[in-house]
Amino acid sequence: MDDFSAKNLHIVILAAGKGTRMRSSKPKVLHTLGANSLLEHVLAVSNVLEPAQIHVVYGHGGDQLKAQLVDKNISWVEQQEQLGTGHAVLQVLPELPQSARVLILYGDVPLIQADTLKRLLESHGKESLPAFSLLTMHCEDPFGYGRILREKGQVIGIREQKDASDAEKEIREVNTGIMLAWAAHLKDWLPKLSNENKQSEYYLTDVVSMAAHDRIPVLTGRPTHNWEVEGVNDRLQLANLERVFQRNQAERLMRSGLALRDPNRFDLRGSLKHGDDCEIDINCVFEGNNRLGERVRIGPNCVLKNASLGDDTVVEANSIVENSEAEQGVTIGPFGRIRPGTRLQKGARVGNFVELKNTDLGAGSKVNHLSYVGDSQVGESVNIGAGTITCNYDGVNKHKTHIGNGVFVGSNSALVAPVTIQEGATIGAGSVITKPVDKGDLAIGRARQKNLSGWARPVKES
Ligand code: UD1
Ligand code: MG
Repeated sequence: MDDFSAKNLHIVILAAGKGTRMRSSKPKVLHTLGANSLLEHVLAVSNVLEPAQIHVVYGHGGDQLKAQLVDKNISWVEQQEQLGTGHAVLQVLPELPQSARVLILYGDVPLIQADTLKRLLESHGKESLPAFSLLTMHCEDPFGYGRILREKGQVIGIREQKDASDAEKEIREVNTGIMLAWAAHLKDWLPKLSNENKQSEYYLTDVVSMAAHDRIPVLTGRPTHNWEVEGVNDRLQLANLERVFQRNQAERLMRSGLALRDPNRFDLRGSLKHGDDCEIDINCVFEGNNRLGERVRIGPNCVLKNASLGDDTVVEANSIVENSEAEQGVTIGPFGRIRPGTRLQKGARVGNFVELKNTDLGAGSKVNHLSYVGDSQVGESVNIGAGTITCNYDGVNKHKTHIGNGVFVGSNSALVAPVTIQEGATIGAGSVITKPVDKGDLAIGRARQKNLSGWARPVKES
């Protein structure tokens, strides 16, 4: 029992609870916080500790869990009936080497921080006798938690809420549930647990009095923040932890120089890298991996997903940019929609109510109003007039539109793909273009205007 190295650390994550109060067909630990499931958060922090093995105790929705976490190196342990936290850990005992140190975490306590766990591991490792460690906290409202029982300062047991006497209910030091023990001790204690208590459950917490009885030192550690040990039982608690998680991310980004108009109205579900002097207005949502250059400004109510925006780019209010890239000095929106596969080259401008999809828009080109440009290759300094539509879909296949440098497309034109408009050509307003247009030509594809003089308007019959 003297190997304190990480290679001997086994982490057990309890995730067998049904999560009845979520009222969901999904197992509770698959609900998400930011971009990741609750369980993924716990796995991420577990991996920071470089354990020899991570064991997840599952009960409900095992197939869903395994399907979602295919690539993770997890030993899955089934607990067929949820007979209590002690019974849950009991299922893992055969998997644990005698010399292992065992850290117990909860799949529905997602914000536990690596620093807190490292401190717990360190103090446990320093003890000359093989010890048992508990993460406890003080709280104003201890209702629902197991209370820490002490005698002359020493921990002698834990009393669950439902089993506590009135005097014990007054205790404000509570069990967070997170603990660290030697496998050899657990193998000794867990088979001796009884379920003679108010909930008829095998309480993991009963091992604490066994430790005290065996004169094993019971150490306690504290989380840095109380929110680290808050659990998710219903959707309100999930939403509250989402706010904590988002606020933490916002603070980290602001400390690294990102200007957020309001850190309470910012949502990052993934990653965000940024240069200096970037500003983000309120109610923006970032998903996937996003990158902002220097001096990028994003207006209110924008959604960015896997977006890469170059220096001095501006995204005006209510715009959406997805799986796309903008080079330097690009302007998007307000109300712009940039769909996947789009590249906006240097200084390009995309205005209001414009949708772009899988389109390469050349440097300095403009699509300023009410247009749809899809599957297109657009050259430099092109002007696409208001209400222009690329008809890229014939009902079966998608076709490409090629527009050369310096082309001017008049308003309300329909460009029926596949079609090529060569450099410097002009399209008259209201044209339907179905044939290629040569370099420098003017193409007009619309009915000629006819004026009928002396035409009498119909009058109402009396
Ligand atoms: C537990 C602790 C309590 C502590 C509290 C902190 C026990 C007996 N009590 O109580 O001292 O203050 O957590 O939140 O441990 N689980 C299983 N299998 C089971 C039962 C539970 O995997 O058979 C999992 C649950 O999914 C959950 C965790 O263990 O992730 C805790 O279970 P829960 O029922 O919430 O325990 P509490 O009554 O809250
Ligand atoms: Mg609980």
